[in-house]
Amino acid sequence: MDKLLLIDDEVDVQYSFRRIFESPAVELHTASSGEEGLRLVPKLKPDLVLMDIRMGTGMNGLETLRRLRQADARLPVIMMTAYGTTQTAIEAMKLGAYDYLLKPFDVPKLKQLIASALKAARDMRQVVSCQPKPEAGEQEVGIVGMSEPMHAVFKLIGQLASTDATVLITGESGTGKELVARAIYSHGRRAEQPFLAINCAAIPEQLLESELFVHEKGAFTGAATQRVGKFEQCNGGTIFLDEIGDMSLTTQTKILRVLQNGSFERVGGNQPVNVDVRVIAATNKPLEEAVAARAFREDLFYRLNVVRIHLPPLRERREDIRLLADYFLRKFARAGGRAPHVIHPDALALLERHHWPGNVRELENVIERSLVVGKTDAIMVADLPPEIVAERLATGPGFVSTHARPRDAAAGTAPNEVPALARALFSWARSQRTLKVLPAVERELVICALEEMRGNQVQAAKLLGITRATLRKRIEKFGIQRDLSIH
Ligand SMILES: Nc1ncnc2c1ncn2[C@@H]1O[C@H](COP(=O)(O)OP(=O)(O)OP(=O)(O)O)[C@@H](O)[C@H]1O
Ligand SMILES: [Mg+2]
Repeated sequence: MDKLLLIDDEVDVQYSFRRIFESPAVELHTASSGEEGLRLVPKLKPDLVLMDIRMGTGMNGLETLRRLRQADARLPVIMMTAYGTTQTAIEAMKLGAYDYLLKPFDVPKLKQLIASALKAARDMRQVVSCQPKPEAGEQEVGIVGMSEPMHAVFKLIGQLASTDATVLITGESGTGKELVARAIYSHGRRAEQPFLAINCAAIPEQLLESELFVHEKGAFTGAATQRVGKFEQCNGGTIFLDEIGDMSLTTQTKILRVLQNGSFERVGGNQPVNVDVRVIAATNKPLEEAVAARAFREDLFYRLNVVRIHLPPLRERREDIRLLADYFLRKFARAGGRAPHVIHPDALALLERHHWPGNVRELENVIERSLVVGKTDAIMVADLPPEIVAERLATGPGFVSTHARPRDAAAGTAPNEVPALARALFSWARSQRTLKVLPAVERELVICALEEMRGNQVQAAKLLGITRATLRKRIEKFGIQRDLSIH
């Protein structure tokens, strides 16, 4: 449940907040003055504070914000103002407010802002540890892995934590780059200071520059009001620049300057602004190639690359799959308040063989999905997505003889697997477009049976559950004799 504290002297505002946020997922507390708010925060430990800038009596919003930040720089505070003047809003941002809103509120926007502030708060408070203990509490998020490359990563995280070194984290999508960035933050000297994550790929080029650095009023069309950029807002803390490979050359130049001099110039202004921010960057694109193509500044690349952490794709550390699967099973069990499921060895074998183009994120999604579709307390092959089963099928006829031997199926040892295998085959065949699945499968099954029985048609027919006459027709239809003689 999220705990919100509203500090506002207007009863009307308190009332409308109650109406907007009345839900079991939110616990809303109110205070009518800055003093009352400051008293309540240590007791309530809210996840987020929403505060009016102007209050009728006592301490004003800005002073209250300053004190709140002194007490806990990680508590996000959204400031609200009924007045169109942006000067105080700018002051609030410089003091480290998460954002500000103009009254009257646009409710969907307010909800969106609150959701993103709560996420930022969670990111700051969750301790990301290497190798979580099985009984790890909800506040602890773990980076799981026992493979050699992951051990090297853990070691580096430990070495880096007490420094302010710039770090570049590389690796395919879903390998855990953000998790590693948060681990460096939560174990570092700046853990009590803010952590802000910016996804450079998700923000349009021109907006990104103003998001990171202040732009002066009228610096470009659309810049009607001045804002405070993340670098200034996050002073003393850590900025995580995600997908840095997608950044424009102008923004790159500014970042380089911050890294070199600890200062930047506002867009459209000429006063340098000094900041003290640790930068952690991540990318899933090979930056060396971008440098060669002159799309990424070479000097910035070297400046970022002081320390590099590379996360190998999951298929190159398959020994971690079992551990990760187990970790996610426990995680989802905890979230659902029930006992963790187990994984059937055949299903685990398929997971360990899969190519995992989406890496750990894909594995996490597969486990979650399998828990939803599964009908028992164990994840079975039938619960896995068709592409994972189909990938195995597509690797060759070896599957039929090792995993679901017709003889075993006839003996009833694996009756549950057939529908899943058939479904998987079907969906794989559909992705191939031209393949006519039924004759194709029939043909392969006939070949398998003949191979297994060394060409003995009577026994092969028995194995397939058809008459010898039918088998002969199939052999003729598919031209199998010829095929067999070739092999
Ligand atoms: N070693 C790990 N142990 C536990 N969970 C992990 C691990 N690696 C990744 N995850 C989980 O997988 C998901 C994806 O990780 P994350 O967002 O850090 O990847 P990413 O490399 O930043 O991906 P992208 O490039 O797509 O942004 C997250 O839910 C994360 O918690
Ligand atoms: Mg990421």
